[in-house]
Amino acid sequence: VNNLAIYIHYPFCKSKCPYCDFNSHVRDSVDTNIFTKAYLTELDYFYQHTGDKTISSIFFGGGTPSLMPTSMVATILEAINKKWGFADDIEITLEANPTSSEAGKLKAFKDAGINRLSIGVQSLQADQLKFLGREHSADQAIQTIKTASKVFDKYSFDLIYALPQQTITQWRTQLLEALPLVNNHISLYQLTIEPATQFYHHYNAGKFTMPSNEVAADFYEATQEICDKHNLPAYEISNHAKKGYECKHNLAYWGYQQYLGIGPGAHGRVDINGNLHATEMLKSPEKWLEQVNVKKHGLKHNIELTAQDQLEERLIMGMRQIDGVKLSQLSQNKLQNLFFLNNQNLIEVTNTHLKPTKHGLLLINQVIEHLLKN
Ligand SMILES: C[S@@+](CC[C@H](N)C(=O)[O-])C[C@H]1O[C@@H](n2cnc3c(N)ncnc32)[C@H](O)[C@@H]1O
Ligand code: SF4
Repeated sequence: VNNLAIYIHYPFCKSKCPYCDFNSHVRDSVDTNIFTKAYLTELDYFYQHTGDKTISSIFFGGGTPSLMPTSMVATILEAINKKWGFADDIEITLEANPTSSEAGKLKAFKDAGINRLSIGVQSLQADQLKFLGREHSADQAIQTIKTASKVFDKYSFDLIYALPQQTITQWRTQLLEALPLVNNHISLYQLTIEPATQFYHHYNAGKFTMPSNEVAADFYEATQEICDKHNLPAYEISNHAKKGYECKHNLAYWGYQQYLGIGPGAHGRVDINGNLHATEMLKSPEKWLEQVNVKKHGLKHNIELTAQDQLEERLIMGMRQIDGVKLSQLSQNKLQNLFFLNNQNLIEVTNTHLKPTKHGLLLINQVIEHLLKN
């Protein structure tokens, strides 16, 4: 119960991908010494308020954390270990882009304490990589996976599917080509058009069309079928792993355990002086930096969550997982209102759990909306 997960957001990328709405920025240069100091200051601030905890997982996400100097990662990890202390089986993941993941750098990340790599491959097809605005080739991505497999015991990579023009046969072929490169975990995302991205404008201007909901559902089903057959079942909508190899940070996040979010735009759910708070940092790297220098933290929002808020969030997060949420963690009036979803074959209620059916997972946003209304 005294476990804490830590998320560290690194908000810089070499270039901005046209589909991406993560808090990522392109700058001519970044003074990484100043940023390192600010991360340490913010960690220290929260250490004063969280009390004694053991760190069960750390996740460097972005942006492109593989652009961080390896010494920066080492310094941050040393500071976390010195303050709270690492659990014996701590998992420390870093998101890596093939364009900043040379073999020497990956080894140095391992020496710095990283023990799991998550690689942004996105596609193994040249035309799709180009469409997605990626600056690496498929060969480069495969090389990064192969190097990662030599350096790290645990690694994963991301692919994006249901692209315009892509056929299900093409996707099946690509996924089958990718599977021999998988160790124990893979993330497979359907392309989504996020507001304010370049794709959003191009899509609205009619420059490309997206697969219909029915076609997208077929893509999803083909994905599940192939992964199930290869012993990589989904443990969440977009995440597949062999049993026991689920990403610890993901499990903490969806299982509604406490996580501290550090760095520009990071979100957290963390006990502050004994009450669970929803925290959110300033998004702009420069504004965050400025505020950390003055206030010792970059908080934009810091809201104490009521018991009702927590129940609802637990439901929203938990229902994205295949195992769903424990009935014991839901309120009684919620349970009395499940008949509609049950009748529609969207949810399943076992003796212990409320979980989405396969059909329900496809429509998870509507399912959650309905659950929250009741
Ligand atoms: C923060 S990014 C990853 C790491 C690294 N910056 C990279 O691009 O290699 C996390 C992942 O989210 C996925 N992603 C981002 N935007 C998406 C979108 N609009 N639709 C589907 N997947 C998306 C990509 O697969 C990406 O690798
Ligand atoms: S997908 Fe990765 S590299 Fe591309 S802009 Fe987003 S965070 Fe940066």
